[in-house]
Amino acid sequence: MSTQPTLRFPDGFAWGTATASYQIEGAVGEDGRLPSIWDTFAHSPGKVADGDTGDVACDHYHRYPEDVALLAQLGVTHYRFSLAWPRIQPDGRGALNPDGVDFYSRLVDRLLEHDIQPWITLYHWDLPQALEDAGGWPVRDTAERFAEYAAGIHRHLGDRVADWTTHNEPWCAAFLGYADGHHAPGRTDGAAAVHAAHHLLLGHGLAVNALRDQGARRLGITFNLYPTDAASDAPADRDAARRIDGLMNRLFLDPTLRGSYPADVLTDLAPVTDTAHVRDGDLAVISTPLDFLGVNYYSRHVVRAGEAVDRVAGDGRPSHWPGSADVEFVKRGVPVTEMGWEIDPDGLYEMLTRVWREYGPLPLYVTENGAAFADEVTRENGEDRVRDEDRRTYLERHFRAAHRALSEGVDLRGYFVWSLLDNFEWAHGYAKRFGLVRVDFDTQRRLVKDSGRWFAGVTRANGLVGGD
Ligand code: FCB
Repeated sequence: MSTQPTLRFPDGFAWGTATASYQIEGAVGEDGRLPSIWDTFAHSPGKVADGDTGDVACDHYHRYPEDVALLAQLGVTHYRFSLAWPRIQPDGRGALNPDGVDFYSRLVDRLLEHDIQPWITLYHWDLPQALEDAGGWPVRDTAERFAEYAAGIHRHLGDRVADWTTHNEPWCAAFLGYADGHHAPGRTDGAAAVHAAHHLLLGHGLAVNALRDQGARRLGITFNLYPTDAASDAPADRDAARRIDGLMNRLFLDPTLRGSYPADVLTDLAPVTDTAHVRDGDLAVISTPLDFLGVNYYSRHVVRAGEAVDRVAGDGRPSHWPGSADVEFVKRGVPVTEMGWEIDPDGLYEMLTRVWREYGPLPLYVTENGAAFADEVTRENGEDRVRDEDRRTYLERHFRAAHRALSEGVDLRGYFVWSLLDNFEWAHGYAKRFGLVRVDFDTQRRLVKDSGRWFAGVTRANGLVGGD
């Protein structure tokens, strides 16, 4: 087997893994942390599979030194993680909680000791419950509170952390949280979801301005983007594709990178809400220039006009989504992951080239990509192994798709695999395993899967080595 990379990524390419606070930290009641909307949601009967909660999760709050050692073993240059707002500012306003700040400060230091660049996401869905009680993202004040929290924590970590993203996947926070109710806070109110989307973006813009004023150098946001195809050329199906592309992609890309909402989407949403919540000057704030865009990519959508089926998020779709209640999501019969998500590496290439062409030039990062599969632990020669060839192949095909975009001129700067660890997969609980590292949730023992061993080779070679 040749040791020369057969596919080389540019020098300085960022290789990382990604996680999120509520999905891994546990320690939900420790050191002053107060509940987030996900604590409340997970503890509400019937909301999460098997009644799972993030109470313990991967116990990362206590085991972070071990987890940073695992990152070093994987050879990553960067680690993307999110900050728990209710740990840092338990009520969502006012003074910061020194113990919460201290946890992240220690994590950052530990990463830097291993020469791993911390990459911070300020919001990965764990809104302090107190702010939801005051109206949540549908109310404007939450955007102001978010900017205040962002500025506060940046004052403590900005000296050591160069890369900051505001939100992870505001589409999910708005539409899964407030329209179809499959995510926290579990509301089913289309207008509230549209207002939430706007205030998430406004909070992003306010935070970017605040951090810029404090000298932040590299700022961005992460969107989950989906190529969206019509199931046929029939005008009604093509219109269904336009509407879903509008709601899931353009409703976020356009205001952030062009400074305007897409007119067709506003028309689609008009039966649900007017635009009175959008004030003069908001779009200028939202479109404050960024240094990069993070793209999370998992799959493609194929849709047709038809009857909506409301199933669990990530599977069926929409009935409660405003502007798309009659859109049906079609399965093409191609191989899927354990989430039921179709495996489609070309979609990553398409999304990166599209964003670059239509919204660039702007440095891009794949901030999440990965797959859940039904892993098995096998005992071989006295050691435990997870031979997850399915996950390795999935990643390799997506890395190749990203490289294709690179070779066509897209300024792709890095790639974060979701996820470092098996973790609390939101409404699916612990049943879906995305990690490069297996977690035994009874013992908290970590075991690097074969995909993780392979990924360590990729990060060290800065590419795919011959024979991969
Ligand atoms: C993304 C989320 C992340 C994880 C993956 C599988 O939508 O950002 O937290 O759940 O999906």
